[in-house]
Amino acid sequence: MDNVNYGEYWDRFYHATYQQQPGGKALWDVPVHRSAALDLVEMDHTLPKELPLLDVGCGTGEIASFFTKHFPKVIGVDVAQGAIDIAIERQTDAHIDFKILDITDATSCLALSEQYGPLNIYIRGVMHQVEENHLPQYVNNLETLLGGKGVLYMIEVASGIRDHFLHHSEGYHKLPAAVQKIFISNLPPRGVTVEGIATHFPPNRFEILKSNPEKLFTNLQSPDGMEIYIPAVQAIIKAKKFS
Ligand SMILES: C[S@@+](CC[C@H](N)C(=O)[O-])C[C@H]1O[C@@H](n2cnc3c(N)ncnc32)[C@H](O)[C@@H]1O
Repeated sequence: MDNVNYGEYWDRFYHATYQQQPGGKALWDVPVHRSAALDLVEMDHTLPKELPLLDVGCGTGEIASFFTKHFPKVIGVDVAQGAIDIAIERQTDAHIDFKILDITDATSCLALSEQYGPLNIYIRGVMHQVEENHLPQYVNNLETLLGGKGVLYMIEVASGIRDHFLHHSEGYHKLPAAVQKIFISNLPPRGVTVEGIATHFPPNRFEILKSNPEKLFTNLQSPDGMEIYIPAVQAIIKAKKFS
């Protein structure tokens, strides 16, 4: 399985968006009160608080840092060297480790599991970026990392996202035309569905505690101050056994 491209693609993205443009931000890079703090309300009841939390695809690390107040240890992993460099530079808390890791790579995930033991997992906006043929390995690796004890919380971009903005989103049509163009070209061509989650996390191996439509906030506002959000799906999932 060739996983090299995730690292190259995302590293280029972080260099172009953050390092070459002072003050540059990705669309999904919003203050934690519009992201992780909303997710925490859902996670609070179901994730065992004695286990560390793994933030998969942690990007520049603000969300992982936020979770240090709520879990004994946080590990932020991302495939992009450029993202992890920024996360380490901004890091202020000792209870957090940032590492480069490709979540579709079985060997690295097994090594991480051996290092930390069973983990809770937080994922915001990664599964929809994983190639379809890598998804079975992605799910196997999450199962390994959960170690039969942790719980996974995920929030992912929903399917049909481009059509949603082109035809249905009122806020989107109030954006200047140039911003509309950049916004659409940044959106992934496919997304995750509630049905897809049930297929990828089969009932003989996983218990889906929750799976429903949600919203992901972006850092864009329409000219009249309306927040532009992305339709999403949210799920909370337990692995039944240690794979
Ligand atoms: C849409 S961004 C979301 C970033 C962050 N979770 C947030 O919500 O702010 C997707 C992130 O996943 C990372 N990523 C993509 N593919 C990955 C992979 N195979 N393994 C680990 N990280 C990956 C990217 O580098 C990027 O930081």
